[in-house]
Amino acid sequence: MRAAPRRTIGKSNEQFKKALKRLPLGVASTFRYWGDDRTIYVDHGKGGRIWDIDGNEYVDYRLGYGPAILGYADERVDAAARRGMEVGGVFALSTERELAVADRIAKMVPGVDLVRYSNSGTEAVMAALRLARAHTGRDSYLLIEGAYHGLFDAAMWMANVEDWSRKGGGDPEVVPYSQGIPQELRSLAHLVPMNDAQRLEDTFKRHGDTMAAMLIEPIQGNCCGISASVEYVQLARRLCDQYGVLLIIDEVKTGFRVARGGVQALLGVTPDVCTFAKAMANGYPIAVVGGREEVMRTFRYGGAAHGGTYTAHSVSLAAAEECLRILDETPALETLAKYGADLKAGMSSVLNRRGIAHSYAGHDSMFGLFFADKAPDNYRDWKRSDYSFYDQMAYFLHDLGIICEPDSREPWFMCEAHDTACLDDTLKAFETAVDMTLEHFEAEKRA
Ligand SMILES: Cc1ncc(COP(=O)(O)O)c(C=O)c1O
Repeated sequence: MRAAPRRTIGKSNEQFKKALKRLPLGVASTFRYWGDDRTIYVDHGKGGRIWDIDGNEYVDYRLGYGPAILGYADERVDAAARRGMEVGGVFALSTERELAVADRIAKMVPGVDLVRYSNSGTEAVMAALRLARAHTGRDSYLLIEGAYHGLFDAAMWMANVEDWSRKGGGDPEVVPYSQGIPQELRSLAHLVPMNDAQRLEDTFKRHGDTMAAMLIEPIQGNCCGISASVEYVQLARRLCDQYGVLLIIDEVKTGFRVARGGVQALLGVTPDVCTFAKAMANGYPIAVVGGREEVMRTFRYGGAAHGGTYTAHSVSLAAAEECLRILDETPALETLAKYGADLKAGMSSVLNRRGIAHSYAGHDSMFGLFFADKAPDNYRDWKRSDYSFYDQMAYFLHDLGIICEPDSREPWFMCEAHDTACLDDTLKAFETAVDMTLEHFEAEKRA
């Protein structure tokens, strides 16, 4: 078997040991912990690459889970952020730029008449659900299996597909993502598998009159890019209208990435409310809840509460203004989608030469890679793909200077700064990682 590639992460390992004393798991967000001897600490990022504190260079396809749409340390956005700094931060008062950015978003996104800002995707989706509840006077809501809408109690119910078996025909158990979620909230969340029209209709028949909202990510940004069909989202729109339920399209990952108008523009389905974060300011913390006027005006005294000390911070807002200008007025999105298409073509050529069945889900700008002939169209089918091959390959890719998520459920993200050098480096490493993975499993079989 070929020798494992050499990558020294001694400094990261040392940092991990020190960080453990002050930070649970040695990190600032649990998802950044990759194991006691595999957790890396970043020195800096530039363009489509990052460097860790040991000096290892990586082409990065996580991009902070999507935000760095133009690439790290983009000079245009950073210069705007510096100008935003001069404004002075937050005042518990409004600034003119809030309207300028809202105008841009309303111009770009079909479903947005009015806008309110938040600081993170979680906060925006939380506000969207509160808005829907206030507007409809109802409490329950519908979620799609495999979806992720952030870390707040109402969104933290998931189908436990990992411990589920198709045999027996039952549904996966609905469990909380974490400890600390009150069990009493469970009955408010109705979960359905993506793209199952019958199940959707049945659930609306049973619960439609008590549901405030249906939340959907038509391209699941935390579940391999599994995608809803147009017909499915159209059906969701019709059922929401029929039962007086608000359709919330969560575009925290797809927004200002898969199209200027987000996934709703690709599908031609207009939600009542939608949420944005990640790509809107190239990594500066800002998010948006937007929607149709009648609904959005429920944010008022005596209606749905909304606010926050740091909301519309002058630095993030200025960064958003410039980032959205670039995404709207330049071919940045076409450039990065073309890169994604080229990357997929290159990967396929490596895999086809070895007769390895594979497929992709999502969009060229954020795609999931599957080791199965056909990409799943719901989370239950993710189990049918050989994700153990992916997980092992990802491990080798890190050693070879390519950062993708170690878990196959996180898509690969493209940025405008990914260039031909990134592509060449990636495909070379990919070929090696695939061969190493094949050898790894051969060796396991022999053992
Ligand atoms: C679709 C979706 N909604 C909400 C969130 C939560 O966003 P944040 O991590 O900014 O709180 C995420 C984060 O990945 C997401 O992908």
